[in-house]
Order: sequence, then structure tokens, then C-alpha cells
Amino acid sequence: MSRAVFPGSFDPVTNGHVDLIRRAAEIFDELVLGVLVNSGKEPLLTTEERIGLLEQVTGDIPNVQVASFDGLLIDFVDRMEADVIVRGLRTPADYEYELPLAQANYRLNRKADTVFLATAPEYSYISSSGVKELLRYQGDISQMVPACVAGYMKEKLNT
Ligand code: PNS
Repeated sequence: MSRAVFPGSFDPVTNGHVDLIRRAAEIFDELVLGVLVNSGKEPLLTTEERIGLLEQVTGDIPNVQVASFDGLLIDFVDRMEADVIVRGLRTPADYEYELPLAQANYRLNRKADTVFLATAPEYSYISSSGVKELLRYQGDISQMVPACVAGYMKEKLNT
């Protein structure tokens, strides 16, 4: 049985994430979404909010579960008894950023391989930080995130 971890900040979860999650859930028997608690950058949403939104948007996928982690990703992968880390690649810049991380993680835990999925082209421009930037200036995020996420963010930020 294969169990994969899809880690991220998910601040907030975007349509690009959801597409990758659905595709990864087809490939692996079990998929654990790992929400990083403390990334060094101050998240807009609390850990509980990020988990709650992820649970809402993936509630119909039976082999997906959501958990949070703090500290090193490979330690979380170990605790989850997973053997694969899934990350999405939107652009060549993502690849340049992700490759050394994958290599470092592999050096730290040779049981866990990183698998990259190419982001669907229609989502490759979407990022959580872009969504937050748009929100700051009352921009329209409805094409970028699931409807329940857009509604939640609008309510939270009172826009
Ligand atoms: O959604 P993000 O912010 O791009 O996700 C980044 C994430 C969570 C994958 C990355 O920051 C991470 O793995 N953080 C945990 C600390 C860690 O293990 N760092 C790698 C050391 S080689």
C-alpha cells in the first residue's frame, strides 16, 4: 500500500492545490495533506482555519486526510509512515526551488522519495501569496480558489 504526504502552507488552499490533490489521490492509496504550522512566515489563516478549509474542499475524496505538522517534513513523513512526498510544479522557478529541497529531504530520509506533479496549465499562475495580495486590495479571487474558500476569506477580511 502506498501512502503519500502532500505538504504545504495552504494559506489558503487554491484551485491549483485541489487539482493536484485530486490527481495525487488517484495515484496513491492514501494521501495525507500536511499543513505546516510554523513556516517562519506569518500565515493569514490559523492552522485550524487552513485545516478546516482543506477538509471542506477534499471531503468528497475518501482516501485523503488532513493533519498539521511542525518542524521537519521528513519527520512528519516518518510519523505518518509514508514513503512519498508530493509537490506541484507550476514553473521552472518552482523546479529550481523544489529540487534542492527534494534532494536534501532524500539525504535526510532515503525511505521517502519526492514525486513532482506538473500543475495543470490553467492553474499555473495561481499562488496562495497572489491570492492574499489580491485580497489586500479587494481583488477578485473567485477564479483562483474554491467558492467556499473565497466566501470564507471575504468574510474573515470583511471585504
Ligand atoms: O506551500 P509551501 O509554503 O510552498 O510549502 C513549503 C513546505 C511546507 C513544503 C516546506 O516549507 C517544508 O517542508 N517545511 C518544513 C521544514 C522542512 O522540512 N524544510 C526542508 C529542509 S530540507
